[in-house]
Amino acid sequence: MSDKAIINLEGKSYELPVITGTENEKAVDISKLRAQSSYVTFDEGYKNTGATTSGITFLDGEKGILRYRGYNIEDLAEKASFTEVMYLLLNGELPTTDQLGTFENNLTQHTLVHENLVKVFEVFPTGSHPMGQLMTMMASLSSFYPDSLNPNKSPEATNLTIIRLLAKMPTLAAMIQKKGKGHPVLYPQNKYDYVTNFLYMTFGNVTEEYHADPVVVDAMNKLLILHADHEQNCSTSTVRMVGSSHANLYASIGAGIAALWGPRHGGANQEVLEMLEYIRDKDNGDVKKVVAEAKDKKRLLFGFGHRVYKNFDPRANILKKACDNILAKLGVNDPLLAIAKELEQAALSDPYFIERKLYPNVDFYSGIIYKALGFPTPMFTVLFALGRLPGWISQWKELRENNEDIGRPRQIYTGPVQRPFPDMKGRK
Ligand code: SDX
Repeated sequence: MSDKAIINLEGKSYELPVITGTENEKAVDISKLRAQSSYVTFDEGYKNTGATTSGITFLDGEKGILRYRGYNIEDLAEKASFTEVMYLLLNGELPTTDQLGTFENNLTQHTLVHENLVKVFEVFPTGSHPMGQLMTMMASLSSFYPDSLNPNKSPEATNLTIIRLLAKMPTLAAMIQKKGKGHPVLYPQNKYDYVTNFLYMTFGNVTEEYHADPVVVDAMNKLLILHADHEQNCSTSTVRMVGSSHANLYASIGAGIAALWGPRHGGANQEVLEMLEYIRDKDNGDVKKVVAEAKDKKRLLFGFGHRVYKNFDPRANILKKACDNILAKLGVNDPLLAIAKELEQAALSDPYFIERKLYPNVDFYSGIIYKALGFPTPMFTVLFALGRLPGWISQWKELRENNEDIGRPRQIYTGPVQRPFPDMKGRK
């Protein structure tokens, strides 16, 4: 089978190598095309362009496959804990009991944030968007831990930064939720595991003992695992791009948080809830009208469609099943779930959506579960970031370990050609 591609340009032929991955994905390596032919390739939004090779996450959009380091997402969501998945993404293998114990103990030692950062946080306006707060505080961490700023300093310094980030993110997220409610911030408790500690800091109170509901802990673990990584999505590519300039990890993750905030990406989970509430409150639950308006391009159905999944998002399938189970166990009867299911059925039976392969994505059901667990809608994308953090860090770590070049895409210029400089009189 040919492992070369031939491009004919202006009467000349150029032979380009073909790269084949372990899952038999194939790519034409165009690294030398410009030097040989002066041509670049063009692919707006990089829809068909591989920016790197990676051994972390594999997904097949046609078959609805998602694997972290070779393990199916269905198995990980069902059988693993979030800290096991963190370890797997970072190190390539699932941890032994001892390895997991050491890893979790390291995280526990770094859950506090610098007291002066708490003072900075206190002056944030209460109504400001949680993602803006998270982005700012992530970047601020670089001011409080200067000893781990330089990513080239040593593997030990980099590993300390990784542990600090993973350990402090739940504390930051919980602080943001507490501020939103005007409640006192709770400090992390070393007696709790990672996810329970986050739930304690978020939903606990200074006035009473906290009792974690196992249903809530299990649901949170599952949600965080499902969001943990997703190969070269918008925010992960942003983290890699910033990391490729050898910027420190705090700056790279801060950039990833910024990219995730967008409503076409991680911000969609908040948009989905607001869309369902709008359908309930303003559209009188008229799902058919909503679908018709989406077909007329008058509105976007948030939580539908995906750049890669063109049959189904396996995470959405897992969440749809979990949603019924969690709401039943919590005794929550949310009319938005009925609207979501009706909307899904209406869309999936409509040729417009079928032809465009617009199926529910990870954001479609996650928001309903987050709401049932007690999170306010503006916090949803922060929860996405909490889950995605180990994925971002693993991808950044892989890029640095592979010593990849600084990212620098090319362009096709479409502006004015050279022209003389006019003096003020000559301008219109
Ligand atoms: C995430 O990449 C990742 O891996 C991301 C993510 C991760 O884990 O990191 O999976 C997380 O970001 C999930 C996606 C969350 N976003 C949303 O739910 C927002 C709504 N979805 C759309 O914005 C859109 O579907 C995208 C951005 C997700 C994907 O867009 P594509 O693949 O570029 O598709 P497109 O914009 O080219 O649309 C193709 C057609 C267009 O119609 P036509 O021009 O062909 O007539 O489908 C239409 C679009 O108008 N379309 C939609 C639609 N999404 C696409 N129409 C109605 N509702 C939608 N949601």
